[in-house]
Amino acid sequence: MAVALTAAGIDNARFEARLLLVHASGLTIEQLVARGTDAVPVAVAEAARALTARRVRREPMAYILGEREFWGLPFKVTPAVLVPRPDSETVIEAALSLLPERERAWRILDLGLGSGCLLLTLLREYPMAHGVGLEASPAALAVAQANAEGLGVAGRAALRAGDWREPGWLDGLGGPFDLVVSNPPYIETAALDRLMPEVQAFEPRLALDGGSDGLAAYRTIAAAGPKLVTSGGFLVVEGGEGQIPEISALFSRAGLRPLAPWKDLGGIERVVAAGN
Ligand SMILES: C[S@@+](CC[C@H](N)C(=O)[O-])C[C@H]1O[C@@H](n2cnc3c(N)ncnc32)[C@H](O)[C@@H]1O
Repeated sequence: MAVALTAAGIDNARFEARLLLVHASGLTIEQLVARGTDAVPVAVAEAARALTARRVRREPMAYILGEREFWGLPFKVTPAVLVPRPDSETVIEAALSLLPERERAWRILDLGLGSGCLLLTLLREYPMAHGVGLEASPAALAVAQANAEGLGVAGRAALRAGDWREPGWLDGLGGPFDLVVSNPPYIETAALDRLMPEVQAFEPRLALDGGSDGLAAYRTIAAAGPKLVTSGGFLVVEGGEGQIPEISALFSRAGLRPLAPWKDLGGIERVVAAGN
């Protein structure tokens, strides 16, 4: 398996081969290691071969395994949702530092739920909070709903179908909110074809395409910000590399007060927050 993965240009081929074998066999890593040189049952070998073939075609590991960890929590993922990224944990860090009181009944909105990783993590971190999530893709919404149930926060999460490109999209959301988070699509349309194969061929275009300059969603969110966010509340968004100054400027022009950006683990400015 590792040989085939290496030949397909995959880094960490041995590690991924082991994960695929764990998935195919239903055993833990420890059980696999303990079985060492035992013959692999035919059914397991066939399942492992099929999983390897998918990975060789550069399907993301998270879609093959059906799960990805985010902020230490397990999120179900399907090809309908963006695979949650470690960089997006910076949104959670920023939110927790801006609203440090964990036991308050904050009202939180997430624009573009995907797997629900942002909103549902925040509902776990703020056990008295209630959240609303908006998502244009019905298939993604179903994944977020399943995750809300799996993480035990469905009773505090109202997940809605909706599209911020449609007129009147704010109506019925129930704002204003103490905290509005979003990791909207932010790749420039012309750059989509240059993304790595895992992203370009498998992840949903609706989750990636940010329009000609990558900033289309931020313009809409900025314009809605003063209505969506309570006085004293915050809007917290993730942006692409190099986009944070322009997003801050959009927020300022909309009458919000942008704060100094947060960097991700790679030292790249990743998140900007603005007060209302
Ligand atoms: C970059 S993904 C982020 C998903 C998730 N919040 C995360 O951080 O992994 C953006 C999400 O916004 C949704 N989306 C894109 N355009 C939208 C729109 N106009 N209205 C509502 N949701 C939209 C996409 O379907 C996708 O699930």
